[in-house]
Amino acid sequence: MKKQLLMAMMVSMTMPLMAQHINVSTNNTSLILDAHQGGGLQFVYYGQHLNDRETEQLFSDGRQHLDAYPAYGMQTQHETALSVVHSDGNMTLDLAVEAIETRSETNATVKVVKMKDKYYPFYVNVCYRTYPDKDIIETWSEYSHKEKGTVKLTQFASAYLPIRYGQVWLSHLYGTWANEGRVETEPLQHGMLVIQNKDGVRNSHTSHAEVMISLDGKPQENHGRVIGAALCYSGNYKLRFDTDDSNYHHFFAGINEDNSAYNLKAGENFATPVLALAYSNEGMSGVSRCFHSWARSYKIAHGTQVRPILLNSWEGVYFDINEQGMDQMMADIASMGGELFVMDDGWFGTKYPRKNDFSSLGDWLVDPQKLPHGINGLLASAKKHGVKFGIWIEPEMANTVSILYEKHPEYIIKPTNREPRLGRGGTQVVLDLANPKVQDLVFTIVDTLMTNYPDISYIKWDANAPVMNHGSQYLTRDNQSHLYIEYHRGFEKVCNRIRAKYPDLIIQACASGGGRANYGVLPWFDEFWVSDNTDALQRVYMQWGTSYFFPAVTMASHISAAPNHQTFRTIPLKYRIDVAMSGRLGMEIQPKNMTDKEKQQCRKAISEYKEIRPIVQQGDIYRLLSPYDKLGCASMMYVQPDKQKAVYYWWKTETFVAQQLPRIPMAGLDPGKNYRVRELNRVDQAPLAFEGKSFSGAFLMENGLEMPLEHNMPWGEKNDYASRVLLLEAE
Ligand code: GLA
Repeated sequence: MKKQLLMAMMVSMTMPLMAQHINVSTNNTSLILDAHQGGGLQFVYYGQHLNDRETEQLFSDGRQHLDAYPAYGMQTQHETALSVVHSDGNMTLDLAVEAIETRSETNATVKVVKMKDKYYPFYVNVCYRTYPDKDIIETWSEYSHKEKGTVKLTQFASAYLPIRYGQVWLSHLYGTWANEGRVETEPLQHGMLVIQNKDGVRNSHTSHAEVMISLDGKPQENHGRVIGAALCYSGNYKLRFDTDDSNYHHFFAGINEDNSAYNLKAGENFATPVLALAYSNEGMSGVSRCFHSWARSYKIAHGTQVRPILLNSWEGVYFDINEQGMDQMMADIASMGGELFVMDDGWFGTKYPRKNDFSSLGDWLVDPQKLPHGINGLLASAKKHGVKFGIWIEPEMANTVSILYEKHPEYIIKPTNREPRLGRGGTQVVLDLANPKVQDLVFTIVDTLMTNYPDISYIKWDANAPVMNHGSQYLTRDNQSHLYIEYHRGFEKVCNRIRAKYPDLIIQACASGGGRANYGVLPWFDEFWVSDNTDALQRVYMQWGTSYFFPAVTMASHISAAPNHQTFRTIPLKYRIDVAMSGRLGMEIQPKNMTDKEKQQCRKAISEYKEIRPIVQQGDIYRLLSPYDKLGCASMMYVQPDKQKAVYYWWKTETFVAQQLPRIPMAGLDPGKNYRVRELNRVDQAPLAFEGKSFSGAFLMENGLEMPLEHNMPWGEKNDYASRVLLLEAE
């Protein structure tokens, strides 16, 4: 009897699945799949939410159904998401759906489509997690097998999405050091477009692993259908768009498989990173709002909290750290209303004091020459001035000139039989996070600092080198190709340990500037340093692109000196503040070199920023006029979710006499509410025409407000920059 029951259960589990539609829906979007009798999983639809009746209509509107997760072997002429070499050398997969599982999580629902190869005991789960109120669908894949030997994974995309051919445009980010987050927009043409990263450590300096796909022609901010996709991964990635002779653009996203073939052991599970998707018919800003809201709630450390206003020491003193200088900077930021001081690079090194970037990474001990009273002395200063204290570290790295390297040369990434290639300062090397001992070391660096100095409230975690040369001294000969994947698994393990023990610590992800603006690191990090370039004009462009996927609460944006240290451009303080105020405001300057008038201006701006901080850092973004449109100005706004308050930004991006600039309609307001306008960080002698006056949301969204071309300032104080920050408050 028992045996019969067991047999019956087994039959029901292995029976070919009945044909069924799989509905993966959020409040406003639907992704529809079809698991058909005895066979594959097909993609049917992704877009605006469909009711049951409309979902049925999808199956009679003549549309093509495509493989939802194409695997290599039995359809060799097409691009694929997955390819393997079985233990017997067979290179094909032929997957069939076996079961569909649904499980609930606190704020999400997960659907797992379980597939198995028709011959081999090789299993693929295609997974979907929906956040209904965020309109985000996460999708990823999992593999395992019970074959006799290892199965080599040679391609392992997280997901595939077909996009109907039409007027499809792609917007993505590219850049380099000091010029991160630049927007590039192009129509998707025939052929293969690949966006990828091979740095090994920093994956968002050049291109980004997030893309906007506009379905109604040239991308618009507040109109049109747009799909946004973000690969949540900190390592090498590859995004492919194959536009072939079919009616579809084929979009694949996942870990970059180049030089990363993975030997999967029997019984081992391999989970790809998540690809997060959003669809909006409110343009690219609509997609951004979905991502920002989802990210603040679930993908960023302390994402729903506002951030302290800080001064970072880097551009102020560079490596020239000393006790008296730190105390002075703390006093200055405190006097301007700041809340936190961050001591950057240059504070450590005993045998090899860190005077420049030639040495000392790995030796996280205070340089007693520079700081005779150690970190405790600095914490006492911070307490005296009433600010919190933060510190810079670069724990994944070493210099060959360091005690760490002398003791543990086996900890670094380098090939056998070869000397390592060296990075920054001519001596920088990357530690091999594939090695559990290195993971312990990196955890211990943070743990020791925090145990010895529990009052440290902020860490700037830097990473200033790529992998450079391939080779793990820890991984076996056969698994050298696992290096990049194991590095990031190791990194995640360390981050988990740190967060388990130090949940409240604020941690900034810096990687030579914006090298780690990605959702692979943000679950453990509060924010990232957008760029080492602090030039306000260039930041308008960089922060614009970065805001596509990342909310202002993550975007560290600092007021720095004029002339700027990267571009040598002299930009008035008003404009520098107005740009920094659109992100997570901070300062990166030597306050000792500022005039009293400048300090007063910053004091006032910081106090005003405190008023708008919740709107900027937690509000909904509406980008209005892109600097990339080259119309002479750029404009955007943040709106409080209840639409009671909004902050409007306007920055001129070039200046000519008799210039004609567009008047820019606002967005996101309540048409029925009346908003009173107040200019912040005002420098004009006379108020603007609309200062203190009220306008209906409908009027502002239809007409906008007229921005004067220049500031009303005394002759001699006039300059070629103009910018405005307006607070709108519903009456
Ligand atoms: C990197 C960071 C900078 C600064 C320096 C210190 O370049 O991006 O902000 O911290 O390192 O060496």
